[in-house]
Amino acid sequence: MKEKISIEYSIYESISSIEPTQQELLQSAYNSSKNAYAPYSHFNVGAAILLEDQTIICGNNQENASYPCGICAERNAIHNVRANYPDFKIHSIAITTFRLLKQSIPATPCGLCRQVLSETEQNNGSVIELILGHPEGKVFIFNSCQSLLPLAFQSKNLFN
Ligand code: THU
Repeated sequence: MKEKISIEYSIYESISSIEPTQQELLQSAYNSSKNAYAPYSHFNVGAAILLEDQTIICGNNQENASYPCGICAERNAIHNVRANYPDFKIHSIAITTFRLLKQSIPATPCGLCRQVLSETEQNNGSVIELILGHPEGKVFIFNSCQSLLPLAFQSKNLFN
């Protein structure tokens, strides 16, 4: 028996094609990318999280001379929410890079961040919209974060 898993997402040619609240969130992520501390990779990333009460929490990547100490923008933002707004539901997350990537394709979250995004959505009680894009490039929108990590390792696996 074979099984096939597919991921569904929408592609928009520019930021002007998405909803105003989505535009604002992506712009917040972009503004946050300016404060990334990325002297080693020179790859600035920004993330912005929209909470259920419309508060926007941002994060960016923070590197270190001891490379593994660094943290990605999306995990920085998610951990900030979990630490300071533990009871708030997350509505959406936008992720962007300061630099527009070649072919204007958005940067996608790394494996570690997909794992954290997946568990965050499980604990959220409802899906979290994921917006990947750049103010001057294409935008990809996913209705669920868990879709980016099929067959994810889950807490229930630990207690089996
Ligand atoms: N980075 C992120 O912030 N998010 C990702 O999903 C991928 C990578 C950061 C980590 C590092 O500071 C830099 O980008 C280059 O990998």
